[in-house]
Amino acid sequence: MTLWGGRFSQGTADTVFALSRSVHFDWRLAPYDIRSSLAHLGALESSGVLEKSDATAIKTALHGLASEVESGAFSPNDHDEDVHSALERGLNEKLGALGGALRAGRSRNDQVTTDLRLFSIDHMLEIARQITLLQIAILEKAEEYVNDSAPGFTHIQHAQPVSFGHELAKHAHAFARDLDRINDWLARTSVSSLGAGALAGSSLPLDPAATASDLGFTSVFANSIDAVSDRDYVAEALFILSLVGVHLSRIGEEWTLWASTEFAWARVSDAYSTGSSIMPQKKNPDMAELARGKSGRLIGNLVSVLTMLKGLPFAYNRDLQEDKEPLFDSVDTLLLVLPAVTGMIATTDFDREKMSLAAPMGYSLATEIADYLVLKKIAFAQAHEAAGKCVALCEENGRQLHQLTDIELASIHPALDPGVRLVLTVHGALNSRTTHGGTAPALVAAQISQALKINSGTMAAITNAQERFLEMMSA
Ligand code: ARG
Repeated sequence: MTLWGGRFSQGTADTVFALSRSVHFDWRLAPYDIRSSLAHLGALESSGVLEKSDATAIKTALHGLASEVESGAFSPNDHDEDVHSALERGLNEKLGALGGALRAGRSRNDQVTTDLRLFSIDHMLEIARQITLLQIAILEKAEEYVNDSAPGFTHIQHAQPVSFGHELAKHAHAFARDLDRINDWLARTSVSSLGAGALAGSSLPLDPAATASDLGFTSVFANSIDAVSDRDYVAEALFILSLVGVHLSRIGEEWTLWASTEFAWARVSDAYSTGSSIMPQKKNPDMAELARGKSGRLIGNLVSVLTMLKGLPFAYNRDLQEDKEPLFDSVDTLLLVLPAVTGMIATTDFDREKMSLAAPMGYSLATEIADYLVLKKIAFAQAHEAAGKCVALCEENGRQLHQLTDIELASIHPALDPGVRLVLTVHGALNSRTTHGGTAPALVAAQISQALKINSGTMAAITNAQERFLEMMSA
């Protein structure tokens, strides 16, 4: 059914109804729509707009409808335009004309964005929980490899050796920023739009602040025109989800590279790999590739909503109906990708020996020579030059830096005495990098335990927020 028609002398053309219809994708808003209807019902009752007996009858019908929606006993039919009209049909079937009473003082314009805010908060909390689980997998894996060295890269060229635990743990910090962003976003999203009406508020004695607190929102809209037009929270959510996707894609790229025969650092478990239909020997890191590939659609969804919003006149326009599918798609995508990547990381093993043998390759200890000279008061430019000459000499006859003789070292720079050999080992190089956040294994271990501590605080806060949300929904 549609919620309008009084002034029309003709029904809509089939093509119009087909384009207009959104119930096939917005039906998932039904639980939030019923809950916000209960809040609106409370406002109509306490303001005296609805008699208590009518309000009680509508409340019972709404609760009944909620269970039928959950069990699947009630669902949209071919004539329902959107989630709101389908649910009103459900109410009418139970209550007759009284079903339409709930529409007083409310428009689908304030209703739909209230529903979508509730949906967004619910799902972003679950995404936050999945991110903290992913962080745990990363940090626990990092803990296993704190004392193992590996080449660290810039430009995909050996740069300086690092603790492999340091290399893994870095990802958890990117996700910590995503969790911060979700937290900031929550404050701006937890704003009720209910009571804004079509755009101008209501002449009925409603109390939007009361419905806001009933729905667990931390605040209420300030300007009714803004309230029905604002989709910043959708765009912001899509940006956050895109960035989570980008972070996942960088993990995907790294895992794919590390699992290659050329690197052979990572052994991805069979449970997180797939085979080839023609090449029997293949074991492909498809989960890593999908983590990388899915970031494309996440970014696409963000661009789609920003483009739809750009230049949109105020207040409500039907264009805004296009906010939902991109948001739903990004949420669903990440809820698929996050647990798969968490499992992939938790079950991957790394070849410690191969990584540590590779760590000093590519003259990755050359910076140690330069730093050694700087500590002997040689200006960095000259120290850099001398270390570069050491590399050139090694390259001439295929040696590594530690294989240069004392005489050769001294001839390159008189301050290059045999003491330099202490830093010309991967072990020495790693342990000397003790500045804040550096790769010295003792420091990395401390960074990881600090990150795990922050993670458990975040997890507790998310669990708490999810419990409060569930309580609100079941009121
Ligand atoms: N399905 C619509 C949406 O998603 C609901 C609001 C319709 N409002 C209107 N004035 N036609 O935006």
